[in-house]
Amino acid sequence: MDNKTVIITGANSGIGKAASLLFARHNYTVIMACRNIERSKQVQEEIISESGNQDVILMRVDMSSFDSIHAFCEDYKRKFQKLDILIHNAAYFNHGEKYRLSRDHVELTFATNTVGPFLMTHLLLEPLKKSSEPKVLNASSNIIKHFFSPKKAIAFDNLKGMVNKKLKHSVYNSYRDSKMALVMLTFKMAENFKEHGIRVNALQINGARMSSATLKKFKPIWRIPALVQNLFFPPAEFMANNYFQICTSGQFSNTSGKLINHKLEIMEVGPENPGFKDIWGASVYPVYADKREVQNKVWQLCRELTAQYLNSVAGTKALS
Ligand SMILES: NC(=O)c1ccc[n+]([C@@H]2O[C@H](COP(=O)([O-])OP(=O)(O)OC[C@H]3O[C@@H](n4cnc5c(N)ncnc54)[C@H](OP(=O)(O)O)[C@@H]3O)[C@@H](O)[C@H]2O)c1
Repeated sequence: MDNKTVIITGANSGIGKAASLLFARHNYTVIMACRNIERSKQVQEEIISESGNQDVILMRVDMSSFDSIHAFCEDYKRKFQKLDILIHNAAYFNHGEKYRLSRDHVELTFATNTVGPFLMTHLLLEPLKKSSEPKVLNASSNIIKHFFSPKKAIAFDNLKGMVNKKLKHSVYNSYRDSKMALVMLTFKMAENFKEHGIRVNALQINGARMSSATLKKFKPIWRIPALVQNLFFPPAEFMANNYFQICTSGQFSNTSGKLINHKLEIMEVGPENPGFKDIWGASVYPVYADKREVQNKVWQLCRELTAQYLNSVAGTKALS
């Protein structure tokens, strides 16, 4: 195998950590893209020691910050010619947290889980194009099932600042919207990057056991339901193996623009009036995800939000 490189964001815990170890064991050069270098250093050392692969590299990125993403991508392009696999695994989800804006004045969940992956993928297009089989994988969630309800829609007004002060902020709803928007970006990216041979897919994660480090980030009251959920969730290694299969197996070499479930089945769009089986199963996703006008709105919003920043940075321009 020629030396292949994978970037995994949020690689210091949970599924990202397990995926880093798996790719390292398969001799990939693994870039652990993490925001907390001190904490992640121990994990990097653990992965090197367990895999015997020295090419496990830690690089700093805060996925909620345009500046940090830009610096990460510039650094990557200085060090590496090509990129084979980009996995957007990092996510912000903190129950009970108040409404917060990122440094770039975007609602923090949406900034981290949706706009960050949009910006990073664009800024890494050149090295991706140099790979013989470039892949991008987005980590989505079965939380998007809420959109089976025809009443649900992404709360676009909430993303650039609290428009209606009377609206009670819910991190849960922001997370739900950010993961649906990420699925929509997956479909758009697959189309827009097809000419470059880049395959873009999303995995619908239905649960993975959370590490103690992750549980500690939750407010105490939310730790109890998380601990209960953990009893029923498979270990992070299970979903990490799904990342690996989607990005490396011949089964998916021509798959692009798809949402894939935890059983590694390609999901289809569900009916307008979903039944119990559709909602509880994992074979179909809500019609809302296929709505062209909403997909375009998500894409356009990500472009607008990043345009001012990119135009202000030497050598970059707003994304098309
Ligand atoms: N576990 C589940 O049951 C479940 C269910 C559905 C979907 N998912 C999805 O699966 C993916 C992995 O989840 P997990 O359970 O493995 O979670 P996790 O262990 O909490 O890992 C999340 C990772 O994201 C990183 N992160 C958060 N904000 C970041 C930022 N601004 N910049 C860079 N990194 C950031 C965290 O870094 P820090 O350590 O620095 O905070 C951490 O490494 C996520 O996309 C999640 O939404 C998980």
